[in-house]
Amino acid sequence: MPTILITGANRGIGLALARSYVKDGWRVLATSRTPDESLIKGAESLPLDLTDADSIKALQQSLAGVPIDIVWNNAGVYLDKNQPLEQVDNLDWLRSFEINCIAPIRIAEALSENVMLSQRKVIAFTTSKMSSLAGNGVGAYAYRSSKTALNMAVRCFEQDHKAQGISCLLLHPGHVRTDMGGLEGAIDLETSVAGMRKIVDQINPTLRIETSRGFFDYDGSSIPW
Ligand SMILES: NC(=O)c1ccc[n+]([C@@H]2O[C@H](COP(=O)([O-])OP(=O)(O)OC[C@H]3O[C@@H](n4cnc5c(N)ncnc54)[C@H](OP(=O)(O)O)[C@@H]3O)[C@@H](O)[C@H]2O)c1
Repeated sequence: MPTILITGANRGIGLALARSYVKDGWRVLATSRTPDESLIKGAESLPLDLTDADSIKALQQSLAGVPIDIVWNNAGVYLDKNQPLEQVDNLDWLRSFEINCIAPIRIAEALSENVMLSQRKVIAFTTSKMSSLAGNGVGAYAYRSSKTALNMAVRCFEQDHKAQGISCLLLHPGHVRTDMGGLEGAIDLETSVAGMRKIVDQINPTLRIETSRGFFDYDGSSIPW
């Protein structure tokens, strides 16, 4: 039975991903700041606060020796949604970097041994189309810049771990109807999860996808950097 670990699995896209993998018989390690076994029947709920290095360390220690086929860095924040630049608080901007860029890389680093022990050896990162320099729109300075920084950090991480056969993927989930995406989101959770899973689940020891080939929209199309 393959194993997946998902961050931010208590609501939104993370919760939908976790439920989808449980349904397909995977062992699901669902992390959140507020673990709640009743949210996803059949998953294992584990505590993880992305802003707490001790929490990442504790997760690493609790999973020592456990092969993890896919680590999915899903959790994220959009703290400056609808805020013009003059309203964006510097601490929120820094926190965006901490949660959207630094923490996913620290989690990947902490769990890379587990990924290497597995068959599939995949680390997925949920970024956003809003991080694209080529497709750059207006506003959302903190969110956009933190996700663009994530993309670059993932490229560095992927290069560092190429020899160990780890595949790193950057995925845009679409504009999804969640707390973050809002009711105006273009797609529902099921569409987003099914689309992203089609990309991620195809990776196996004989098919590798490198981030250098681009990052991917939920529908499988490439997004220009
Ligand atoms: N929805 C969209 O349209 C959209 C579009 C592009 C990209 N994305 C990306 O997709 C991912 C999921 O988004 P979503 O729409 O599902 O957002 P969401 O509904 O707001 O959920 C965010 C998740 O991240 C977790 N999280 C935030 N800060 C955390 C921390 N310090 N430690 C641990 N967990 C933390 C939240 O946990 P708590 O409940 O504890 O806060 C929650 O589980 C994010 O990376 C987001 O940037 C979303």
